[in-house]
Amino acid sequence: MTELSLRHGEGWRMDKLIIRGGAPLRGQVEVSGAKNAALPAMVASLLTEESIRLHRIPQLGDVRTIIGLLNHLGVSVEGRGQEPISLRADRIDRFEAPYQLVKTMRASVLVLGPLLARFGRARVSLPGGCAIGTRPINLHLAALEKMGATVSLDAGYVEAKAPRLKGARITFEGQTVTGTENLMMAATLADGVTVLENAACEPEVTDLAALLNRMGARIEGAGTPTISIEGASHLHGAEHEVIPDRIETGTFMVAAAITGGDVTINRCLPYHLEAVTEKLRETGVLVEETDCSIRVLGDGHVRGVNIRTHPYPGFATDMQAQMMALMSIAQGSSVITETVFENRFMHVNELLRMGADIKVVGTTAFVHGVPTLSGAPVMATDLRASASLVLAGLAAQGITTISRVYHLDRGYESIEQKLLGLGASIERVAEH
Ligand code: EPU
Repeated sequence: MTELSLRHGEGWRMDKLIIRGGAPLRGQVEVSGAKNAALPAMVASLLTEESIRLHRIPQLGDVRTIIGLLNHLGVSVEGRGQEPISLRADRIDRFEAPYQLVKTMRASVLVLGPLLARFGRARVSLPGGCAIGTRPINLHLAALEKMGATVSLDAGYVEAKAPRLKGARITFEGQTVTGTENLMMAATLADGVTVLENAACEPEVTDLAALLNRMGARIEGAGTPTISIEGASHLHGAEHEVIPDRIETGTFMVAAAITGGDVTINRCLPYHLEAVTEKLRETGVLVEETDCSIRVLGDGHVRGVNIRTHPYPGFATDMQAQMMALMSIAQGSSVITETVFENRFMHVNELLRMGADIKVVGTTAFVHGVPTLSGAPVMATDLRASASLVLAGLAAQGITTISRVYHLDRGYESIEQKLLGLGASIERVAEH
């Protein structure tokens, strides 16, 4: 067992964060590897019996959950702390993602494609509802059926079978990130060529394709809406470094803007954040970029701007809650429209408790900026909602106490140490 897997349950501790707001953040911070690139990269190890070595895997709740799932299937995972981790799927003896794990992390459905492609069968619990909406997997299933899989539903589980998947032309009805990743992985071991149309273009999809190609897959077009995959009889071991986390980067950018600070974010890829950069510049903050760093300089005053979330390269839904925190102290009004998930405004009621002025009508939030927020006890409800409450707390007057921090720990590595390094007053305490 690895240190990571031993600490599997740790992400669910009932900690709370106590933030004393008002200090402008200043200094340099380094982003971690991307959660949403690390999860599929780790799952890709199921496609070969040889070892996959991954660099820059962040230490997060969701990473511990996926290690728990991979261990459950029979994958051995080695690596400690910040070292690269090695995964080897040479003794797979289970083919099922159980309810307990899928329920806590929806990305567990990523094992469906690889298990089916390599072993001809997979049984995965249906995700059900989650804090940000229904989030079905119908598009994953319809696409696998097009590749010849038989899919049935039994006691809350999806069972898929296929002696060998066959290449197919698949047009996704809607863009889906994990759906594209699931199908791309499945197609690497299918018989013949698969073409995915209306595929997700997120950088995490492109990063997964890069790893799969290192493993011997033949994938072209990742990062565009049309991806073609020529199936191979087997894949082999590989080494790969996952991309930097663009959402963590964006969160620190907003942290600088909302506190009127001066923060340089290092080891990031600015071209993954063009939509965020553009919006922040529109608010009036200064954003400077190099190839691998972003500096955000604010003076404590931002203008209200309108935001509409879109799949990449549009404004990411994973940055919507953080921008809403910023807009709640902007001069003027802002209209924020969420188009990707139907119920991703869980942070609004908590921001209202801190004095924000926000009205939600359907999938649109009308934010009227107030001069200051005031610290309050608030509760995290999902990962990005938690991040927005941290940002609001950093800007607020007085003390903000955020409970249920395990949501934040699912996706932000060492968040309070990184913020402390930038001069924030933030403390983690165990909740009783
Ligand atoms: N959808 C369907 N049917 C499907 C699949 C998706 O109707 O079979 C719908 C969803 O309900 C949603 C939309 O399509 O309305 C887009 O969902 P998508 O499948 O793209 O989301 P996902 O793959 O489940 C990933 C990220 C999310 C991120 C979204 C959108 C991972 C592990 N998760 O989710 O990240 O918000 O893409 O960019 O990659 C987060 O990190 O906090 C997070 C939620």
